[in-house]
Amino acid sequence: MALAGVGFQVSEGLIYAVIGPNGAGKTTLFNNLCGFYRPSAGSIRFDGHELCGLPTHRIAALGIARTFQNLQLFFNMTVIENVMVGCHLRAKTGLLTAALRLPGVRREERRLREWASEALELCDLTDRAGQPVGSLPYGLMKRVEIARALAARPRLLLLDEPAAGLNDTETGALRELIARIRATGVTILLVEHHMPLVMSVSDRLLVLDYGSVLAEGTPAEIQADPRVVAAYLGGAVQYAV
Ligand SMILES: Nc1ncnc2c1ncn2[C@@H]1O[C@H](COP(=O)(O)OP(=O)(O)OP(=O)(O)O)[C@@H](O)[C@H]1O
Ligand SMILES: [Mg+2]
Repeated sequence: MALAGVGFQVSEGLIYAVIGPNGAGKTTLFNNLCGFYRPSAGSIRFDGHELCGLPTHRIAALGIARTFQNLQLFFNMTVIENVMVGCHLRAKTGLLTAALRLPGVRREERRLREWASEALELCDLTDRAGQPVGSLPYGLMKRVEIARALAARPRLLLLDEPAAGLNDTETGALRELIARIRATGVTILLVEHHMPLVMSVSDRLLVLDYGSVLAEGTPAEIQADPRVVAAYLGGAVQYAV
């Protein structure tokens, strides 16, 4: 079983990390939260709404957005066009109205551009807006994914390994960005293997192993837990919290 008997609760406004070895079930957990997978049993609640059984777009409309472990971008579209895709939930114009070029479409397009620009600014991508995503270095592509998720104005943001493939400078900038996003009032669920980042940025952590909860607690508690050290962290290293 990919996940079994996993239970946890995230308070609004927290940065909550989910860690654990490869194959522990972290991405599967995200896929269940977003409605990509439907759990065979159990319940996932967000702000009083039951999410199990809802289609992905309904879950997104409740205020949950995500990034992907493997980049899911339109590489031949520009940065801002990719981010505008993230705004469509907030847009009023349907596909038909847009296809028929009915009045209001251009106004709506301007609004989408404004929303996307705000997300780009928060992610320090303003000067890249017009470039094709495929021409960016990898670290910036990962930022475009975050900007696209933010363009939907989520209340809960799921980040799946945002630091994977980043160098030290980019990881430091990511840490700063995650803190900045939280400061705007967004709750963050963070899946990440980069322990210095996780331990310094998170309020609490959930440790998964073989699809089950191994531990839950603050960064200091998790680092002192012998089961977590044995299953995942290894000995000897202490991360700043
Ligand atoms: N659609 C699927 N069908 C069958 N098995 C799956 C599916 N998706 C994931 N799994 C399996 O479920 C387990 C958990 O996978 P998952 O991708 O959630 O791990 P993870 O914790 O995100 O690992 P990583 O750190 O490597 O990203 C793995 O054994 C994986 O092979
Ligand atoms: Mg994963």
